[in-house]
Amino acid sequence: MVSEHTPSDELSADDHLGTGRAPGKDAAGHAQRADWNPRGPRVRRDPVAAYDALRDQCPVARGPDGAWTLFSHADVVGTSLDHSTFSNAVSRHLQVPNGMDGAEHSAYRAVVDRYFTPGRMRDLEPVVRRVATELVAAVEVPGRVDAVVVGARFAVRAQSAWLGWPEELEEELLGWVEENRSATRSRDRARTAAVARHFTAIIRSLTDARRDAGDDAPDDVTTELVRDRVDGRPLTDEEIVSILRNWTGGDLGSMALCAGVVLTYLADHPDLQEHLRAGVPDRELDRTLDEILRIDDPFVSNRRIAVEPVTIRGRQVAAGDQVLVSWTAANRDPAVFGDPDAFDPDAHAPYNLVWGIGKHVCPGRPLATLELRALTRAVLAATTAVEPDPDHPREREQPPAGGWVTAPLVLR
Ligand code: HEM
Repeated sequence: MVSEHTPSDELSADDHLGTGRAPGKDAAGHAQRADWNPRGPRVRRDPVAAYDALRDQCPVARGPDGAWTLFSHADVVGTSLDHSTFSNAVSRHLQVPNGMDGAEHSAYRAVVDRYFTPGRMRDLEPVVRRVATELVAAVEVPGRVDAVVVGARFAVRAQSAWLGWPEELEEELLGWVEENRSATRSRDRARTAAVARHFTAIIRSLTDARRDAGDDAPDDVTTELVRDRVDGRPLTDEEIVSILRNWTGGDLGSMALCAGVVLTYLADHPDLQEHLRAGVPDRELDRTLDEILRIDDPFVSNRRIAVEPVTIRGRQVAAGDQVLVSWTAANRDPAVFGDPDAFDPDAHAPYNLVWGIGKHVCPGRPLATLELRALTRAVLAATTAVEPDPDHPREREQPPAGGWVTAPLVLR
């Protein structure tokens, strides 16, 4: 993607590999009717309801560009675990590690995983908590906020603190998140490419500065990555940029959307809010956050490519076809969760797909959870109530992302 890790990889419009044949045609070149339009009025009106309906009526659906979307929990899990039929090499750009398969993926994934160990997260926790507390302290209480705006700023600050990036970059990064969002929606390749170049330039300035500083480089995660190795050799500049882009590019947006979903859910569920205010251990809070995100998963889907012909629920997927796994729809599949809106963190945890499943399961989950936990605790600690804003309506984020684009709340 421009950033590799966006809610649905759609940012990679400019990375798009294509299926090697005309959109909407089958292997023999016959035109095929699309089953749905991922950006049509029905989805735009109420994305979650549209995905629910598709899962019931057409769980393996072909879009106008010929890509398949899988909506059921069973198909999403089956596809995500079948690494020999479905490849992650969906982009012509280097994507470390998400665009890789097999042994190559494992080698780079081992590098990435070292940055999210429990010990590292423990050390980082006070830093992220401080970032959250300071940010919330600057918000007027009583007052009104947009949870997504707060989430975006928090994500940039928390990630910058983690990576050792300067505070002066905050506004540029926030601007970039917004640019990235609108370029993705425009589906204009020139715009997404320009946004990608902008991000590469930001990252290069940080990595070059560390290389130039040599032994005097700051002792932070970015320096560590610049000096890191894979398969016994130093990472290349291109690999470092890709990893950092993957960690920040898409996730700043995802974190903001997650914050919006979590805080609006708490505003809509005062009993749950009261329960959390009374004090719950981290483990319970983390499960609560996962369950809220399961019910309204803003990280909508990821893409695979079929490397051989495969039949899914009677639909013939050809080799080279793109296949999207819809986390949002799978996470609300009544076959697994019964009433998708029923809040039952413990019972649903084993089936929750918010962080994916299989070899590409989110390595950043511990960090994302730490951040969301810190923000939620800080907001609850600074207020006596979080309520929906009756004067400003919420607005749904549009595909390819999910959640809310504006989530106005009243803080008391
Ligand atoms: C903010 C909430 C986040 C959500 C909901 C989320 C969700 C996901 C999901 C569903 C996948 C699986 C993708 C696939 O199967 O194709 C994934 C992969 C990934 N995530 Fe996250 N993520 C989040 C935050 C983060 C953060 C903060 C980082 C790092 C700082 C991160 C780094 C990655 C990477 C590198 C991958 C690719 C892993 C691979 O291909 O092996 N994510 N994420």
